[in-house]
Amino acid sequence: MTPDPCDRAEAEAADARSPLRHRRDLFDLPEGLVYLDGNSLGAPPRSVATRLQQVVASEWGQGLISSWNTADWVGLSRRVGDRIAPLLGAAPGDVHVGDSTSVTLFKSLVAACRLRPDRRVLVIEPSTFPTDAYVAAGVARLLGLEVRWCDPADPAASLDEDVAVLALTHVDFRTGAMFDLPGLTAAAHGAGALAHWDLCHSTGAVPVDLASAHADAAVGCTYKYLNGGPGSPAFAWVHPGHQAAWDQPVTGWFGHAQPFAMERDYAPAEGVAKMASGTPPVLALSALDAALDAFDGVRPEDLRAESLALTDRFLALVDERLGAAVEVVTPREHARRGSQVSLRHPEAYGLVQALIARGVVGDFRTPDVARFGFAPLYVRHVDVVAAVERLVEVLDAGEHLRPDYAVRQAVT
Ligand SMILES: Cc1ncc(COP(=O)(O)O)c(C=O)c1O
Repeated sequence: MTPDPCDRAEAEAADARSPLRHRRDLFDLPEGLVYLDGNSLGAPPRSVATRLQQVVASEWGQGLISSWNTADWVGLSRRVGDRIAPLLGAAPGDVHVGDSTSVTLFKSLVAACRLRPDRRVLVIEPSTFPTDAYVAAGVARLLGLEVRWCDPADPAASLDEDVAVLALTHVDFRTGAMFDLPGLTAAAHGAGALAHWDLCHSTGAVPVDLASAHADAAVGCTYKYLNGGPGSPAFAWVHPGHQAAWDQPVTGWFGHAQPFAMERDYAPAEGVAKMASGTPPVLALSALDAALDAFDGVRPEDLRAESLALTDRFLALVDERLGAAVEVVTPREHARRGSQVSLRHPEAYGLVQALIARGVVGDFRTPDVARFGFAPLYVRHVDVVAAVERLVEVLDAGEHLRPDYAVRQAVT
């Protein structure tokens, strides 16, 4: 008999079978809370607070400035990058961590466009995360390029001999739809362009293989599924074959070959280390480093399998219990789905607020989308069942229509 995804005992059995079942113990989630917003801000593994206390009290407090050498703060960015690399299909030494995603994206896109100096077009898609579009516009203005908006249903149709870079977000922040990274990378190359990927909504839940896809460059944030904490620094990956010619625009001293030679003229560091600009954020990197302990020994394919199992269950339950009351906007095909499920509803904001009041945390994206993220390290199958039960209760009781739930907060 096929297991019934809507059955609570079956959900408990699925949790007991999961290869990630002990990972949740590394997190101190509030008792009784169902946290489905790890696609926006990941939960902190317990090790983060311990590590930060130690860094502040001992490395900074006692070691003071000597900790740049004795605690190897200066090598922290590279060490953290090396721990993220396996989730990206990247080799150690090819991932840099340091600035915000927006700043990293700017630096990376400028460098990518500079590898095609004879081409004048930067292709992006209109439904991409706003910062990606704003940064692309800024890059285009700086370099005298034209931004071309592609059709999200067929980005490759916008490629021609004028295109320098096709810059896409792997998993869409609003719908959870996923692009075919290897296929679109190959299409970009077929047109002589570079393929640039934003992996914010993938890394830590949807593993990619950048090297075997022959992607050119990628960036991604670390505060979602990697649990690095609010505003934790982003990563950049540059294909090894591009690193020598990679010419990023914020040529600060930490990206210099020898920062402490204090030379007059800039000479870039070797490899992806040249993506550095200023002094690395040691506290934030230390928190991220500790958060990555939760991924130690985890097989990337298990993250993906568990993420799909959770979203499959959520979709099955939504279909069975909610029917036409909501519209599922996330693709159902595994090959096109990230690690979140988005539901369209005219009162999506109120729906999310009412759910939060009932202990189920998702979020809202304008104009009418309720998002539910499934972080495979700590979301369980029983949480999925509880979330849909609460969703049914909210809709049945009309709680989402309460006027106080219509008042928008600064962060939605
Ligand atoms: C696809 C994507 N890119 C970029 C960002 C954010 O950039 P930053 O870390 O600079 O705020 C987000 C944030 O959610 C995102 O979803």
